[in-house]
Amino acid sequence: MNGLPALFLKNTRLLLAPAFFIAAVLHFAVSLGAQENSPPRYVGSAACEPCHQEEYASFIQYAKKSKSFQSIERLQHGLSREDLKKCYTCHTTGYGRPGGFTSVEETPELKNAGCEVCHGPGEIHIESGDIDAVKREVTREDCEACHISERVKAFRYKPLIHGGGH
Ligand code: HEC
Ligand code: HEC
Ligand code: HEC
Ligand code: HEC
Repeated sequence: MNGLPALFLKNTRLLLAPAFFIAAVLHFAVSLGAQENSPPRYVGSAACEPCHQEEYASFIQYAKKSKSFQSIERLQHGLSREDLKKCYTCHTTGYGRPGGFTSVEETPELKNAGCEVCHGPGEIHIESGDIDAVKREVTREDCEACHISERVKAFRYKPLIHGGGH
């Protein structure tokens, strides 16, 4: 006799599983809708191209940032996953920040250091064209997040504010 209610319970749970799944999907959709309150996401340099073709073309052609993931790949042999994650902070876009690079599989558009390492996450700007949603006044401190002093010494130059972008 004991087995019957148990079986019944088990079946109910099986029946409920799809309901839970739908609820989870709805919840996800609602949280997407509520994104206005969360910080803007990174969109990747290619998303800037349609409206800023000159900056984009010059960036892709001249700035080493646009290929900075290759530098990691070049040296990755023998590096642990933890070591590689340290590289991501400077060589990718937005690693460790909301809506930033997570992995090549999940966020291939953010694997290089792109426009947004200087201009900030572009989600709101590309949707609205609002110029206040993007950072124009880039300062020396912004560069120094990645061009830290040891590295500047190692490479024997200080970045000038108008270099490295476009
Ligand atoms: C849908 C079109 C569009 C896209 C996509 C777009 N922008 Fe813009 N952006 C504009 C417009 C319009 C302006 C204002 C006119 C101008 O300066 O060209 C502007 C201005 C800017 C400015 C100058 C702001 C100022 O104060 O003058 C920067 C910096 C900028 N965009 C960066 C970006 C970056 C980085 C991306 C990609 C993440 C991007 N834009 C994508 C339309 C766009
Ligand atoms: C998110 C980190 C990051 C920020 C912020 C950053 N850079 Fe860089 N920058 C890099 C990396 C990484 C490279 C090297 C790319 C490679 O060779 O793999 C680089 C390369 C450069 C170079 C080498 C030459 C070239 O054309 O690529 C210059 C110059 C430079 N950056 C200037 C600047 C300036 C100026 C700023 C601030 C306005 C700045 N960078 C902000 C990460 C950053
Ligand atoms: C603190 C930021 C930062 C971290 C962390 C970082 N890099 Fe860099 N890397 C840079 C910057 C900035 C440059 C450009 C040279 C400069 O101005 O210092 C650069 C340049 C390079 C270059 C030379 C590219 C060239 O063509 O000359 C290689 C290779 C490289 N990094 C690989 C790595 C690897 C691999 C890691 C992780 C183990 C790593 N970097 C971690 C900021 C960083
Ligand atoms: C290394 C930092 C850096 C990167 C990367 C960068 N920019 Fe800029 N950008 C700047 C700086 C600094 C200015 C301000 C120049 C000025 O005031 O004259 C600027 C200005 C702009 C402007 C305003 C118009 C102008 O040219 O002055 C636009 C638009 C722009 N950037 C778009 C982009 C796009 C699109 C990308 C990527 C393809 C990008 N930027 C990558 C640093 C950067």
